[in-house]
Amino acid sequence: MIKQAIPTKNKQVIDWVNEVAALTEPDYVYWCDGSEEENMAICAKLERAGTFIKLNPKKRPNSYLARSNPKDVARVESRTFICSQKQIDAGPTNNWAPPKKMKATLKKLMKGCMHGRAMYVIPFSMGPLGSKIAQIGIEITDSPYVVANMRIMTRMGKAVWKVLGNGNFVKCLHSVGAPLKKGEKDVPWPCNPENTYITHFPETREIISFGSGYGGNALLGKKCLALRIASTMAHEDGWLAEHMLIVGLENKKQKLKAYVAAAFPSACGKTNMAMLIPPKEMKDWKVSTVGDDIAWIKPGQDGRLYAINPEAGFFGVAPGTSVKTNKNAMESCRRNTIFTNVALTDDGDVWWEGMTDKAPEHLIDWQGHDWTPRSSTPAAHPNSRFTAPAAQCPTIDKNWENPAGVPISAFVFGGRLASNTPLVYQAFDWTHGVFLASTMGSEKTAAAEGKTGEIRRDPFAMLPFCGYNMGDYWTHWLKVGARLREKPLIFRVNWFRKDDQGKFMWPGFGDNMRVLEWIVRRTAGQVNAIQTALGMSPRYEDLTWTGLKMTQQQFQALMDVDAQKALEDVGAQSESFEPLRQEDKIPIEFEAELVLLAERLKRSMA
Ligand code: OXD
Ligand code: MN
Repeated sequence: MIKQAIPTKNKQVIDWVNEVAALTEPDYVYWCDGSEEENMAICAKLERAGTFIKLNPKKRPNSYLARSNPKDVARVESRTFICSQKQIDAGPTNNWAPPKKMKATLKKLMKGCMHGRAMYVIPFSMGPLGSKIAQIGIEITDSPYVVANMRIMTRMGKAVWKVLGNGNFVKCLHSVGAPLKKGEKDVPWPCNPENTYITHFPETREIISFGSGYGGNALLGKKCLALRIASTMAHEDGWLAEHMLIVGLENKKQKLKAYVAAAFPSACGKTNMAMLIPPKEMKDWKVSTVGDDIAWIKPGQDGRLYAINPEAGFFGVAPGTSVKTNKNAMESCRRNTIFTNVALTDDGDVWWEGMTDKAPEHLIDWQGHDWTPRSSTPAAHPNSRFTAPAAQCPTIDKNWENPAGVPISAFVFGGRLASNTPLVYQAFDWTHGVFLASTMGSEKTAAAEGKTGEIRRDPFAMLPFCGYNMGDYWTHWLKVGARLREKPLIFRVNWFRKDDQGKFMWPGFGDNMRVLEWIVRRTAGQVNAIQTALGMSPRYEDLTWTGLKMTQQQFQALMDVDAQKALEDVGAQSESFEPLRQEDKIPIEFEAELVLLAERLKRSMA
C-alpha cells in the first residue's frame, strides 16, 4: 500500500474516485503523477507480472513487449454501446441500451471487480494541456498496462490537476473484470472476454469499459473519448471530432503549403499517408505529420477550419510496416515503445510480417510459442500494435502541438475499392463532398466476408466511432460548412483499384504524393479540372509522372467509370440510407444529390 496525498481538491473527482473504490473494492488507490520514476515502477511491476518482456536495450532502448490473451486482441464493436436516453439519438448504426439499465448491469459486474488489484487514477488531457480545444479526462483503471500506454498516448500526469481546477472532465472507468481471490496468482493478461462491455453515456460524458485490456477498448482517451464522446460534444458546440489523419504538404519552390485531413476505413494505409515519403523525383515536396488517426477541427475567427491532433502518441498496426513501406513509423517506434502481440526475436528485438522480406529463422510468436518460417500461423497477430510517442516521428510537424491547430485546406475521403471508383476526383461543392463522404466504403475481398465486390459502407470512416445518430452527424457537417467563410475543398481518392487480373493498378505509398500534389494545387487555384458525372477530375497532363511509368491509357483506366454500374451503385447508396430515412434523418440535400448523380450518369451514357 502506497500512502499518497490526494493531488486535487476537485470534489467531483474525489467523490467519484471514492464511489468507484467502494464499488470495485481494490486493494488500494494510486493517483498517477505521470513522472519518469512512476513509469519505471509501473513497467517493473508489469515485468514482474509477466505482462511486459523487456526488449534488448541495445536494439530497442526502453521498450517492452506485451502478449495479450488470444481472446482479447481487438476492439469489439459488437460489445460497444451508445447509451443515450433516447434510442434515436444513438441511431441505427450504433448498439444502444437505456443508460439506467446498462448502468445496473455494469454495477453488478463491477461489484468487487478490482479485488487483489491496485486502482489507478490517471488524469489526462486530449490535446495540448491548457489549449482551448483540449478536453480533460480521468481514467480509473485496474490495469497498469493501460497506465503505461496512456502515458504515451495522452498528455498524462499531475499538471492536469492544475488545468482542471474545479472544472468538469470526462469520467472514464475501466476494469479488466478479473478480480483475484485471496492468494490467487494473477495471469499476465487478465481480462474477461465473456462479459466485455464498452459503454458510452454521451449526455453525462461518461465511459465505462469492462472486460478487455486491449487498445481502443481500454485506452479510453482514444476512440471512446476523442471520437465517440467528443463527436457528441462537437455536435452540441459546432465543431468536428473526426477519424482523420492530418498532414502538412509543402513545396517551397512552388510556394505551396497546405494541411489536409483525410479519413480512411481501417486497413487503408492511413499511417502511411500521415508519414508519406514522396518519390525521389518529387523531392521538392515535404510532408509533415500532425496526426495519424484523430482530428478535432474547429472554425477559427477567420472563418476557416483549424485542426489539432488530440493524441500524443501513435497506436499503429505493426504488420506491413517496414523501412520500405513506412520508414518514419519504423523510426517512431525505435525506442520508448510498447509493442503488443508482435513476435520476439532471439536477440530480444521485435518482428512482424512484412517488416523484412525474409523472416528470421526462429522467433517466439505472439502467443509465446516457437515459430519458424515453416509455421502455418502468423508470428505477429494481424492486429498487433506499437504504442510510440508522436514526438519521435522524424516528420512530426512543427505545429503539431500548436493549441490553435493548423488550417485545413482540403478533406480527403478514401476507401478500398477494386473497381469503378476513380483514383481521385473533387466534389463540386461542400454539400456534394459531404454526400460523397457519407457513401464511402470498402469492398469485401474474402469470400468468407460475403459476396466479393459487395461494399461495406463506412461513412466518413466513422461507422464504429460516431457517438450519435449518423443522419444528425451528416446534417451537422452541412451546417458547419454553411457557416465557414472559406470552405476546405473535398476529394475522394481510391488507391486500391485492380485490373481484370486482380493486380493493383496504382503503386500507392509514396506515389500517392502525385495525387496529393494535384489536390494541393487545386486548393491554390493553380490547376484546372474537367467536369465528369462524378465530380471534377484531373487530366493526365495535370499530374507529375517523372519517375513512374504510367501511360495516358493506364491513367484513363484508373479514372474510368462504367456509368451503368455507377448507376446501380446509386441505387445501393440510396438503399444504404434506408434505415436512417425511416427515422427521417437523411438530409434533404442528400436525396437531391442522389437524383443529381443518377441524372448526370444517365446523360453521360446518352
Ligand atoms: C484504430 C482503428 O485502431 O481505426 O485506429 O481501428
Ligand atoms: Mn483509427
